[in-house]
Amino acid sequence: MLQKLEKLYEGKAKRVYRTGRQDQYLVEFKDDATAFNGAKKGTIQNKGALNNQISAVFFQLLEERGIPTHFVELCGEREMLVKSLKIIPVEVVVRNIAAGSLSRRLGLPEGTLLPCPVVEYYYKNDELGDPLINDDHIRALNLAAPRQMERIKEIALAVNAILLDYLSDKEIDLVDFKLEFGLKAGEIVLGDEISPDTCRFWDHKTRERLDKDRFRRDLGSVEGAYEEIFKRLTGKSFNQVQ
Ligand code: TMP
Ligand code: ASP
Repeated sequence: MLQKLEKLYEGKAKRVYRTGRQDQYLVEFKDDATAFNGAKKGTIQNKGALNNQISAVFFQLLEERGIPTHFVELCGEREMLVKSLKIIPVEVVVRNIAAGSLSRRLGLPEGTLLPCPVVEYYYKNDELGDPLINDDHIRALNLAAPRQMERIKEIALAVNAILLDYLSDKEIDLVDFKLEFGLKAGEIVLGDEISPDTCRFWDHKTRERLDKDRFRRDLGSVEGAYEEIFKRLTGKSFNQVQ
């Protein structure tokens, strides 16, 4: 029997609990939503359950394609069992289409197709507001070794190729996404979540946003967008499985 023991950590969107197993944690996904480094707060109904189950679909797909992830199994509507990792405090963003901070930084209109995927690194540090950094900053701050960053970039680009292919069948454009990595027995492993909180998903035909930008930008129908992604991935409507 899986035990949910003491809470080890609580972040903006998730809580992590110790389990009876030394090398596995339980992650509970919350309905709380924040944006702009916590300056904007709200709740998205059923977000925890949706992000948990959407992330599980992506992690299983990636594992099948040979990407090492922390995912072990779903163990509740809003809970998954994961391998405990030593988290590397670098957020890795991969972009296929210009949007968000890239559009602002480089003056590229949102929706501009990028001729090659763009990989960026951000220092995971709330006090500093997660600043953009490069390989040298990562080395100077001793966040990860150069060969670890090579492996991280290789995995991030492989994840991009797998997700682009998978999502194009579902009429979803993968605009960009954020990954986090950690170490397990010296190996780089994909952690965190892959969900509409951490990806930009646009409907291929209408370019309607089906992700957290609906919350960030007050576009309305936030829950509906998360449910639509769930439906396109699983073929089932979220209400049916409740
Ligand atoms: P950005 O355009 O705001 O830099 O966001 C790039 C991608 O990273 C987008 O898919 C949303 C995701 N993201 C997070 O997962 N967490 C964050 O804190 C931020 C700022 C972005
Ligand atoms: N998760 C981030 C925060 O709270 C930002 C975002 O997703 O836009 O601030």
